[in-house]
Amino acid sequence: MTERFNQAAGGWDKGDMRQTIAHSVFQTISSRISLLNNMSIMDFGAGTGLLSFKIAPMVKTVVGVDLSDKMLEQLTSKNSDKLSVQAICQDILEEPLQEQFHGIVSSMAMHHVEDTASLFESFHKHLKRDGFVAIADLEAEDGTFHTHGNDGVHHFGFDRESLRETIENAGFEHVRFHHAYTVEKEEQNYPIFVVTATKKGF
Ligand SMILES: C[S@@+](CC[C@H](N)C(=O)[O-])C[C@H]1O[C@@H](n2cnc3c(N)ncnc32)[C@H](O)[C@@H]1O
Repeated sequence: MTERFNQAAGGWDKGDMRQTIAHSVFQTISSRISLLNNMSIMDFGAGTGLLSFKIAPMVKTVVGVDLSDKMLEQLTSKNSDKLSVQAICQDILEEPLQEQFHGIVSSMAMHHVEDTASLFESFHKHLKRDGFVAIADLEAEDGTFHTHGNDGVHHFGFDRESLRETIENAGFEHVRFHHAYTVEKEEQNYPIFVVTATKKGF
């Protein structure tokens, strides 16, 4: 899978679809969650930073985590003195970061991770008290979304109720689904949600 993203990295930002998805996901997140200028945020599966750089002006720091060094090279090439995102190429499920965040955002990366329960357990560990997740991905689909094939695609979207259960079991509360955008292809439409939740206090 990482090889495919490494190969796609150079042309990732070309074309409207990915930009439009990132824009809609950002609008949905920022209308539901107060992004504050003292916050540290992780963008999981940040890729070239399409979502990270929309979040960055509103918060203190954004760390983009990804497995593809070439996608992250594209991300860091966008850094400037005025606005920057830190790139970390690491599998946080295997090797957690030594940092906790106020929030974790993600767009279109969750379906590439086989074990969704472990992913949310890892998110839980990476969040400060009362931290939030805001994760965008496809509603359940029939496997036709990825026209290049399903190599590295572990989930054909997500059923809301079973994902809610997974997120709650990982120690989150206030799980809410929000419609973000619908990708319209010739034969079919593919709705995208943002699911938000907060780390449960103990
Ligand atoms: C479909 S792309 C989305 C990139 C970006 N979020 C966007 O919206 O353009 C999925 C990204 O998730 C990354 N990814 C997949 N599995 C991952 C994992 N276990 N940890 C970190 N990143 C991962 C891939 O390398 C890829 O860059």
